[in-house]
Amino acid sequence: MHTKDLLASGVAHDLNNRLQSMANALGLMRLRVASGRTSDLNSLIEVAERALVGAGELAHRLMSAGRTLQSDELILLNKTVSSMRDMLRYVAGEAITLRLAFPDSDTWILCDSHLLECALINLVINSRDAMPRGGLITIETRKACSPAGDDGQEYVSLSVTDSGSGIAPDVLEKVFEPSFTTKPKGSGTGLGLPMIRHFVDQARGRIEVHSAPEQGTRIELYLPIVAES
Ligand SMILES: Nc1ncnc2c1ncn2[C@@H]1O[C@H](COP(=O)(O)OP(=O)(O)OP(=O)(O)O)[C@@H](O)[C@H]1O
Ligand SMILES: [Mg+2]
Repeated sequence: MHTKDLLASGVAHDLNNRLQSMANALGLMRLRVASGRTSDLNSLIEVAERALVGAGELAHRLMSAGRTLQSDELILLNKTVSSMRDMLRYVAGEAITLRLAFPDSDTWILCDSHLLECALINLVINSRDAMPRGGLITIETRKACSPAGDDGQEYVSLSVTDSGSGIAPDVLEKVFEPSFTTKPKGSGTGLGLPMIRHFVDQARGRIEVHSAPEQGTRIELYLPIVAES
């Protein structure tokens, strides 16, 4: 698949994720209203609004395909990930506990924040799908050594770890191939991890997958630190 085709299909794939988040949030709101539990609808409304804004941004990129699908900005990583907490919890679903951990002080990174958000949504969806009976997802950031030996650059690692089914070695070597999926037809397109790798490449970072069958999975994105907060 050419990079341009991958990007267009990948953006459409992430647009679909956003529409599904919005549909789920609206469905939950409908259930709450039907049962008279209307006092705590705010977080659901925020999730739906965030999905709508994200979908609009992605649709805009699709319309400008061929020109720019990328727009970098300086962001504070921990702050940005924290702001996604509610949305990621809804994506994970009630059977899963989602924990955020930020042991170090915040760092500025240069990246496309919409693609970062899409990457985290995709990672949480993958972890959720690997834990049909529920489990734990931990999203953690910490300052890290360069994954490729000392290149004079400081990195922050953003990892998503799950307690799910894990990945067999023969599958592990294919997970970044565009369109590779082990999910049933209609439920997976195999574009999630290739899009995440594209995001990481654009941010001049690296990605590592650590996994073994029945041992869970940890996917770690190393992103260059621009400045400490
Ligand atoms: N956390 C995980 N646990 C177990 N297997 C995983 C995990 N993340 C990815 N995989 C494996 O890697 C494959 C490719 O993942 P990728 O996100 O690229 O596509 P997908 O999830 O199958 O489909 P899509 O993301 O388009 O819905 C998955 O089908 C699955 O086999
Ligand atoms: Mg996926």
